[in-house]
Amino acid sequence: MHQESEFQHSNIILVGMMGTGKTTVGTLLAQQLSYPLVDMDTIIAEREGMSVQEIFRTKGEAYFRDLESQVLEEMLQSTGQVISTGGGCVLRELNRAVMLDKGMVVALTADVDHIVGRVAGDTNRPLLAGDTRERVQTIMEERKDAYRFAHVTVDTSLLTPDEVVTHILTRYR
Ligand code: S3P
Repeated sequence: MHQESEFQHSNIILVGMMGTGKTTVGTLLAQQLSYPLVDMDTIIAEREGMSVQEIFRTKGEAYFRDLESQVLEEMLQSTGQVISTGGGCVLRELNRAVMLDKGMVVALTADVDHIVGRVAGDTNRPLLAGDTRERVQTIMEERKDAYRFAHVTVDTSLLTPDEVVTHILTRYR
């Protein structure tokens, strides 16, 4: 008989750099589980009435990070959701602790080439303004330890979104 995993019915929380596939994978996962998909950047933008890009520009990154922590805490009051976080949500230790406590944390990773290919031309990511490859490399280096806390890590570079989902569901169910 299949033994239920410790995570059954809890939240699946996707973390990872921009361009690792959180939104794509989150959408598929939510469909398969019939769970709501909660995209933190979308909620923050709706709440503030402006895009993430605009928030960074007019109010600054620190303001955005405070909002991010607040929204995360609120989202995690509920269970049975797929939560797609912004790439920098892992930077605060308190955020990491709350996530570990309230769901199965899945870190998506990818190599620089794949990330650059996926985010190229995207003007809605304020931290990537300038030379995209250089920015991605710098941010990856700065955060290389920050994603290691996850329960599960999946490298999405060479997998299809469906394959990533299958992998995650194997650990979840
Ligand atoms: C950020 C990632 C973005 C968004 C903001 C900051 C980051 O989310 O939250 O631009 O610090 O890595 P995505 O990872 O969904 O692009």
